[in-house]
Amino acid sequence: MWVLLAAMFVIASVVIAFVVSVIVGQRKSIREITKSERKFRYLFENSIVGMVRFDAATGRVIETNEALLKMLGTRSLETIPSRLGLFEAGIPTPLLQGLEKTKSIQGHEILLQGKRQKPAWLSLFGVLNESDGTCEAVVADITQQKQAILLLRQLSSKIIEAEENERRRVARELHDGVNQTLALAKGKLSFVEHRISPAQRKIKVTSKDAGRLVESAMEDVRRISRNLRPSILDDLGFLPAVRALIDELQNRSKIVIRLALEEKPKNLPRHIELALYRLIQESLTNVEKHSRAASAVVRISRTDATVRVEIADNGIGLHGNPRRKKARSGGMGIQGMRERMVVLGGTFHASSTTSGGTVIIAEVPFRQQSGDDHVRH
Ligand SMILES: Nc1ncnc2c1ncn2[C@@H]1O[C@H](COP(=O)(O)OP(=O)(O)O)[C@@H](O)[C@H]1O
Ligand SMILES: [Mg+2]
Repeated sequence: MWVLLAAMFVIASVVIAFVVSVIVGQRKSIREITKSERKFRYLFENSIVGMVRFDAATGRVIETNEALLKMLGTRSLETIPSRLGLFEAGIPTPLLQGLEKTKSIQGHEILLQGKRQKPAWLSLFGVLNESDGTCEAVVADITQQKQAILLLRQLSSKIIEAEENERRRVARELHDGVNQTLALAKGKLSFVEHRISPAQRKIKVTSKDAGRLVESAMEDVRRISRNLRPSILDDLGFLPAVRALIDELQNRSKIVIRLALEEKPKNLPRHIELALYRLIQESLTNVEKHSRAASAVVRISRTDATVRVEIADNGIGLHGNPRRKKARSGGMGIQGMRERMVVLGGTFHASSTTSGGTVIIAEVPFRQQSGDDHVRH
């Protein structure tokens, strides 16, 4: 009997001790949670970076910290809608979809535009809180960076435009000035040539040679001015102009060049045609100058919204030339091609192929033109 009572006492004590330890443990972890929550709240409220908490399913903004309100130029969330329709409407759907998929947001950019306010760019980083379906995100104001990028693009665009204008001017002067003078000289030489007596054979031959030299100089001037100002683009259109570039190169070198058209790029805006023409022109010149290739292919394809140009050769590759110079920054070298594509919101890649040659790939987005060939720079 006593033994039974003693056993029951021991069991009861153990149970009580266990229950007490569980309660104490829970209290402790609740304290820990409260402590870390307090820490988080402190961080949330006093952080100098913007923070927002929102419902991950609906995008409804639950709270923002002071720093974010300051960043948005407002005192309280209620006044945000006047500045930012976006926060009134909640977090945008693409961001929520990304959050659902990856459980986090990594630098998602959103543009805030109010009717009377300047646009602001924000970048969000955060993690999904799966226990309550909310998300706390850090918000960085990247408006200045975005504006700087925009400014740089506008500057590049202006430089490219100035370069094209200058080329046009030089082409005109070559054509209207130098070429006219050469034509005049040729006429005079021919006049002299016909008046030299047959007895003066040597002088006649020399005069004939001089005439041929002037003719060849005229041909050079014509070619240079054609390259400077691709009027063929205006006269015949993009594809014939590209074909002419290819024919010209084939005529003066042994490189076999093929033009592969997957989907004809019709109705491209004029400024995109010019940029792609310049890109093909420079790439083919590079093939001729540096590649030692036997053949090359120019591939042009398009989708509804983008046009893609690829120039591949089977030569020594980009790094095959041991005396490789640093690319010129000013002209239409590789750097120039890249800048042109970036200005158009496109992409540019120059690399060596696995088989050893070089490949240039450019892709540019465009909006369908409706007859009007408006040049936008
Ligand atoms: N198709 C190519 N094959 C081999 N090397 C090339 C090719 N294109 C460019 N390169 C290399 O890249 C360098 C930079 O080209 P680029 O920027 O056009 O300047 P540039 O033609 O004035 O040298 C070239 O000097 C050359 O060494
Ligand atoms: Mg070059």
